[in-house]
Amino acid sequence: MRLLDAELVETREILPAQWLHRYRAPWLAAGARAGQFVHIRTPDYSGLVLRRPISLNTIDRATGEITLHFRVAGKGTELLGRARPGDFVPMLGPLGRPFEVDPRTHHVLLVAGGVGIAGVRALADESLDAGRRVTLLFGAASAAEVYPSSLLPDEVEYVVATEDGTLGQTGRVTDLVPAYEAWADQAFACGPRPMLDALAHLAAGRLGRMGVARLGRKRGGGRPIPLGSAQARRRSWLQVSMEQHMGCAVGACLGCVVWGVDGPLRVCREGPVFAAEEIAWEEPA
Ligand code: FES
Repeated sequence: MRLLDAELVETREILPAQWLHRYRAPWLAAGARAGQFVHIRTPDYSGLVLRRPISLNTIDRATGEITLHFRVAGKGTELLGRARPGDFVPMLGPLGRPFEVDPRTHHVLLVAGGVGIAGVRALADESLDAGRRVTLLFGAASAAEVYPSSLLPDEVEYVVATEDGTLGQTGRVTDLVPAYEAWADQAFACGPRPMLDALAHLAAGRLGRMGVARLGRKRGGGRPIPLGSAQARRRSWLQVSMEQHMGCAVGACLGCVVWGVDGPLRVCREGPVFAAEEIAWEEPA
């Protein structure tokens, strides 16, 4: 983890009030992994003190560049959206625990709701680079909010659901999952909490006979695996990236806590990626 200025190279409004920023940040790109995030401060003219947590959307080690995809949700992100190429933006990162893919996994299912796609987008690249097949299920309220397919690698199978039926299947993204759950060796999700609640309930009770679990145990697989470990995430069928407001982003302020099955969990330190079994889920609406 380092705190340095990253140079903004390119900025695009890819959806209404949603920006894609490309930064030159070789120090970040060198060590970051899919699922991690940066804590970013708007350029100095803003006068705002608090940083904003933003997922690493793509990571390109060859060019030393990263992209961040964020939605304008307040003064800080509004000012960030006004930043221009050539501006230097202070970033702390990479932060948090990344997604863990079991080496036996061939079929990767990504599930994203709205701007939550930024939380899983880098995993599409990592998975394709590792020779895996990737399907991305994406949900939005309407066609106007659907992530552009042109921003995805051609190899990704992209399936869309919209709540008003203006593009893809009518309904929620979670309605798409049953058709893919047998195909997927592992699933990775990011989006609004109700979406994650619904997914976790769908997966609960099936984990022992789905995905990597049905591929059999590896040597030493009989030993208990501590909840919260990288190994536990690697063995889980469903991993989720949780979105939460943050203060410090380094584990000190307890401003980002979610409730886990064994007590409170700091999204910035124990997450943002969790095995679904770690979280105390709420009944889906
Ligand atoms: S944001 Fe301070 S503990 Fe997580």
